[in-house]
Amino acid sequence: MKVFAHRGASGHEPENTLLAIQAALDMRVDAIEIDIHMIEGELVVIHDRRLEKTTNGYGRISDKAFAEIRLLDAGKGQKIPTLWEVLQLVSAQCELNIELKSERTVGPVIQLLKRAISELDFLQSQFLLSSFNHHLLNEIRTQHTGWKIGALTASRPINYAYFAQMLGAYSVHIDVDFVDQAFIDDAHKRGLKVFVYTVDHEEDIADLHQMKVDGIFTNFPTRSMVRIAHLASAVIK
Ligand code: G3P
Ligand code: MG
Repeated sequence: MKVFAHRGASGHEPENTLLAIQAALDMRVDAIEIDIHMIEGELVVIHDRRLEKTTNGYGRISDKAFAEIRLLDAGKGQKIPTLWEVLQLVSAQCELNIELKSERTVGPVIQLLKRAISELDFLQSQFLLSSFNHHLLNEIRTQHTGWKIGALTASRPINYAYFAQMLGAYSVHIDVDFVDQAFIDDAHKRGLKVFVYTVDHEEDIADLHQMKVDGIFTNFPTRSMVRIAHLASAVIK
């Protein structure tokens, strides 16, 4: 099972900060997941559309100036990073799952990823673009070919993973609360990988391993990787 460091190694360092990204790199994860919003044309790495949960600021980020949010403390004195700062730090050392949270992010993100491929040695295949906003994913499918799409759901759709196949997705990303064997089998029949979020507990890791899930998003990557290695070695024995 592939391990994605969820919002960086966010169980150890403040989520979606360069500290959390560096911690995930130090843990040698397969992939890192980050959340993206756009402020005044700048792509920034933060989960919520409001500031108060993860910073010392207050209000909606869409009401702020980029310069203003850059003065905030996102934890341990960290700034809210830009996508470019994260790309520079990761520098092709692992895969990067960019979850698009804001409207009108598709074009600017792809433009920046093309720059990362030419300047930072990333391969296009190291990027996975995901969103709960399936209109954004459809924009990628129809206007930007060649990019891997991760279709997110926080439900168990009536037609299982059909929606992800229709979006031309590489993978379907489902909440651990809703995944079941029928969903996984259906996604696999459609040629999709199944990645499950957010998985930090060993009972869930064991169940998902048994169910043949392809990867998990976790806040505690080292602990989860040790558990997965243990399960894999038990299968070999
Ligand atoms: O991309 C997986 C997961 O991050 C989706 O939910 O709310 O943590 O962004 P959320
Ligand atoms: Mg996310």
